[in-house]
Amino acid sequence: MSNTSYDTYRESVAGRADVEDTPELVAYYKELAALKTGALWTVANKIEPWQPKSESVPVLWRFRDLREHVLRSVDLVTPEKAGRRVVYLNNPGRQDVSAAVGWLYSGLQVMHPGEAASAHAHSSSALRFIMEGRGAYTIVDGHKMTLNANDFVLTPNGTWHEHGVSAEGTTCIWQDGLDIPLVNALEAGFYAVHPDLQQAVTHAVDDMPAIWGGKGLRPHDGNWSKPYSPLFKYEWAPTYEALVRHSKVTEGSPFDGVLMHYINPVTGGPVMPTIGASMQLLRPGEATRAHRHTGSFIYQVAKGSGYSIINGQRFDWTERDIFCVPSWAFHEHANASASDDAVLFCFNDLPVMQSLGLYREQALAENDGHQAVL
Ligand SMILES: [Fe+2]
Ligand SMILES: [Fe+2]
Repeated sequence: MSNTSYDTYRESVAGRADVEDTPELVAYYKELAALKTGALWTVANKIEPWQPKSESVPVLWRFRDLREHVLRSVDLVTPEKAGRRVVYLNNPGRQDVSAAVGWLYSGLQVMHPGEAASAHAHSSSALRFIMEGRGAYTIVDGHKMTLNANDFVLTPNGTWHEHGVSAEGTTCIWQDGLDIPLVNALEAGFYAVHPDLQQAVTHAVDDMPAIWGGKGLRPHDGNWSKPYSPLFKYEWAPTYEALVRHSKVTEGSPFDGVLMHYINPVTGGPVMPTIGASMQLLRPGEATRAHRHTGSFIYQVAKGSGYSIINGQRFDWTERDIFCVPSWAFHEHANASASDDAVLFCFNDLPVMQSLGLYREQALAENDGHQAVL
């Protein structure tokens, strides 16, 4: 006989469940369990916490620790065998769903010149952020995009896509970001391999950024009604330029410095329905105030070095390092340099939080908005 207790989650607070086990109640709970049911008051306080309780922990993945291991995978497996040759970021609190944080997946993928992964499609929305190398490309539904460091490219839900590195290029490493854990939690994931394994390039190379990438301009005959951005590629140079220009004329956000969101140029909304992305600039010496909000966030340092304090823990980062901020974790960022700016790329599930009415934000009131470092 088990001596299971059913009153572990009791709270002596008005309006919360506070029922003590008695032999009669325990017998009753066992009868309910036999009928595949249960008494809500035994679990209510657990399943409805007062505020979000993330199972993810803040993690910093240092590129200098990972790079060698990522490169070694080239000798160990072929892209043909592996499907995708990726070292994924495995949050200690989310190993059951292979998430980097919350419901977001991320990994580092490597390819040698002349290599190409097979074309496929899936229900997950995906992006990649190029970390190093020359000659990387992505093909999305027949549109080929050439990619350089700090470029950001979309492979939205349901599109045929594949990645490779041209024979004249160098070994490339990029960060993948997907909503695989979310799609699996919703039990909505499909995956398909392209019948020809590789897809044909059916449009001029880099046509989508050429058509949709004009600053403040919309193509006259541009028809686009798909639920994701037609501007599949967002290049580093104009993004950085926009941040620098912005930083010269405004204070920016007290929590994020100069923060700009990548948008779908047709709607002004996020690049994909389930994943948003942004780039933010911290001016020399800038240290932001702490706040917290719902949603899961993965950052990659595109430029510079500094640190972030996440739930009282300090993480020192430099270019190419990746770190995550779990939902409802207090966080603040600082640029450690007195002379150079620091730039952080970020992708997140903000569009999910916002479209479902679940977004909430709170500034840290105490201590002038700065956390005590544990
Ligand atoms: Fe994919
Ligand atoms: Fe934030």
